[in-house]
Amino acid sequence: MEPIELLEKAKQARALSYSPYSHFAVGAAILCKDGSVYLGANIENASYPLCMCAERNALYHAYMEGKKKEDFVALAIVADSPRPVSPCGACRQVLSELFPQKAPIYLGNLAGEKEETNIETLLPYAFMDEDMK
Ligand code: THU
Repeated sequence: MEPIELLEKAKQARALSYSPYSHFAVGAAILCKDGSVYLGANIENASYPLCMCAERNALYHAYMEGKKKEDFVALAIVADSPRPVSPCGACRQVLSELFPQKAPIYLGNLAGEKEETNIETLLPYAFMDEDMK
């Protein structure tokens, strides 16, 4: 699947966002080796700290269907942002443990701008399970 297609899936996921507080809808899509795609959108709450980002929802969605780190090929994230949307710090920490370090992460916006990165670049020196041994 081409990056543009995965970004389109993330855009479709974005339509499912529940974001009445920030009015900032985000969509994410994870492509797996078997061709399956798992979607996530941000889901907010009147108790603001309970808001959950699109990236983590997509990742947890995939894990709940039995997928694991080694099954993932790529992640795409889309929002209506002035530059391709970049994952928050909390999502970077979660991705650094549950998503392959070098797998492409496509950042996009509704203007059609896109960038490619990976979690190794987005979160260098991540705190990992090895740090507790
Ligand atoms: N948000 C995401 O879903 N992903 C990001 O990478 C950045 C922020 C959500 C959280 C909240 O619902 C809204 O965007 C505003 O921060």
